[in-house]
Amino acid sequence: MRTFDPKEHPVPFVHRLLLSGVAPRPIALVSSMDEEGHVNLSPFSFFNAFGANPPVIVVSPAYRGIDGTPKHSFENIQATKDFTVSAVSHAMVEQISLASSDYERGVDEYVKAGFTKIPSRIVAPPGVAESPFVMECRLLHHHDTGGLPGSGNLMIAEVLMFHVKDSAFDGERIDPRRLDLVARMGYNWYCRANGHALFELPKPRHAGIGFDVLPSFIRESDVLTGSQLARLASVQELPDADTILERWKEDVAAIDTAEPHPDDFEIERRMGNAHHALLALLAEWKTGSLDTATVTRRLQHCAAVALKQGDVTFAWECALMSLPQRLAELPRG
Ligand SMILES: Cc1cc2nc3c(=O)[nH]c(=O)nc-3n(C[C@H](O)[C@H](O)[C@H](O)COP(=O)(O)O)c2cc1C
Repeated sequence: MRTFDPKEHPVPFVHRLLLSGVAPRPIALVSSMDEEGHVNLSPFSFFNAFGANPPVIVVSPAYRGIDGTPKHSFENIQATKDFTVSAVSHAMVEQISLASSDYERGVDEYVKAGFTKIPSRIVAPPGVAESPFVMECRLLHHHDTGGLPGSGNLMIAEVLMFHVKDSAFDGERIDPRRLDLVARMGYNWYCRANGHALFELPKPRHAGIGFDVLPSFIRESDVLTGSQLARLASVQELPDADTILERWKEDVAAIDTAEPHPDDFEIERRMGNAHHALLALLAEWKTGSLDTATVTRRLQHCAAVALKQGDVTFAWECALMSLPQRLAELPRG
């Protein structure tokens, strides 16, 4: 582990460090206007949402690292309070990069970066027509975090109006794959919120039993990962091992080892079929050809496969049966 005290390092180093670890960051394409009505457009990834009632976002145009001068977006928002934030889709990313160039005050980056203006309903600055998601915002508070080169300016703003393209919706819900947004990482890295980068994780519906309640032979497993243990620890109550043991005794007794079974545990495991893998394993166990340590490990592999399939109940059965003393009670030979 490398440890860094920000006070002992130059600001550009701290900036790179911060941006690598606070990632991915959403990108706000901010459109603002000066008091003469000149439009400005610049991307900012010091940006997020901070509450829904009222809807509040914060964007931070920092003082320029080179000379500590304020950015045009900051000056415009300070002067007129109003701005728009357009979300950035993958199709827009090269253009927003161009818009981030250090153009002279008064230069319209919509023109420079080839974006199209779309009129706002409430605020004066337009939104970006190419964006699937545009917010009209009004400044509530400004907080200067230091006034030095690289210091931030938290522009805390209320969202007065949302505009979302029809194409972003799947029925009543916005589908992230339809938005296809990009985010900023450290150095020159971006990421795209689509394809394999996206996954769904349902919110916990109750307080799970927690890691501390997992039996130690499961918690200390070198087969099950932290994520898999978290799935097991999310159940509302510990399943009853005795009931499972009694059922398994009957099931194992009923296995006819003379009959053909899915006979290769490893193949079934790789195929992601927890039930077939278990059947192959128990048939082998019954013939007495496997030692307890191997079966214990393989049962935990079955639990891992069941968890990948989303079958937490079956995963718990396999995990609880991987206790050697419990396993020893199953019929064999
Ligand atoms: C993806 C991206 C994210 C950026 N995020 C920020 C940011 O959060 N804060 C900032 O001060 N500058 C950020 N920049 C740099 C500004 O966009 C750049 O300084 C721009 O020229 C400011 O324009 P302005 O002076 O017209 O406001 C970012 C640039 C890019 C490409």
